[in-house]
Amino acid sequence: MKGIILAGGSGTRLYPITLAVSKQLIPVGDKPMIYYPLSVLMLAGVREILIIATPADLPQFRRLLGDGSHLGLEIDYAEQAHPGGLAEAFIIGADHIGSDSVALVLGDNIFHGHRFSDVLAENAGEVDGCVLFGYAVHDPHRYGVGETDAEGRLLSVEEKPARPKSNRAITGLYFYDNEVINIAKNIAPSPRGELEISEVNQVYVERGKARLIDLGRGFAWLDTGTPESLHEATQYVSTLEHRQGIRIACVEEVALRMGFIDAEACHARGERIAKSDYGRYVMAIAREFVG
Ligand code: G1P
Repeated sequence: MKGIILAGGSGTRLYPITLAVSKQLIPVGDKPMIYYPLSVLMLAGVREILIIATPADLPQFRRLLGDGSHLGLEIDYAEQAHPGGLAEAFIIGADHIGSDSVALVLGDNIFHGHRFSDVLAENAGEVDGCVLFGYAVHDPHRYGVGETDAEGRLLSVEEKPARPKSNRAITGLYFYDNEVINIAKNIAPSPRGELEISEVNQVYVERGKARLIDLGRGFAWLDTGTPESLHEATQYVSTLEHRQGIRIACVEEVALRMGFIDAEACHARGERIAKSDYGRYVMAIAREFVG
């Protein structure tokens, strides 16, 4: 399974913070926002990852993550010159996907919850159709919304409906089979001129090939779209990290635990940034790992 992180957009609701820097590079707690979706793909076992961003922002992502080899990954980069919609990721990324299945994660989506890595491992890999992740929210009209029947089967997916048929938001993590490239190429742009991911998902629903996994109560799917929600996300992450002495979305730790790198490589990465608590944490994790 290949991975795509879509980190486009201009983050207008965060101006002036995002006038000069990509939204997905600003901090949530003690690390850049993109570490969170990157760790999700890594926990799903995905190692070949394409980062799509605007031409202006791409060099900074490259500077942060390079070719990914320090994390045992292969990271490539591609431009989205204009905001053509989320589904355009599959057209831009068609060569990267090749004949494989693909996991798409939005660069500003933060997921955290007990046993999430198990959920990812169980559903990633060979996908038949698509796998979507639903989350109950109080303001579903801001998202893609999934309508389900009594058995939890998905009946429809609508993008930002004025009258949502449920409170189930479709989160920004999607697993697809290879058909997604063709589907994306054949949908029409929405009134706002974008290839909507909800249109793609609706095609899978109509084919009876869409599965919805409910991220239940006790799970955190955090928004980072406004200064307030960004602040809340930082508070959430900092509170848990401080209380438990762990770090959420520490990509070096994930790489180590997933067996993508060894303890020595992990330690070396920590050493490069040892003046920060984050760097010292990475070194400590590596030492602990060897025992
Ligand atoms: C996008 C998708 C929407 C999804 C959301 C998740 O919305 O279009 O279906 O629920 O991401 O973050 P946008 O962030 O572009 O408004």
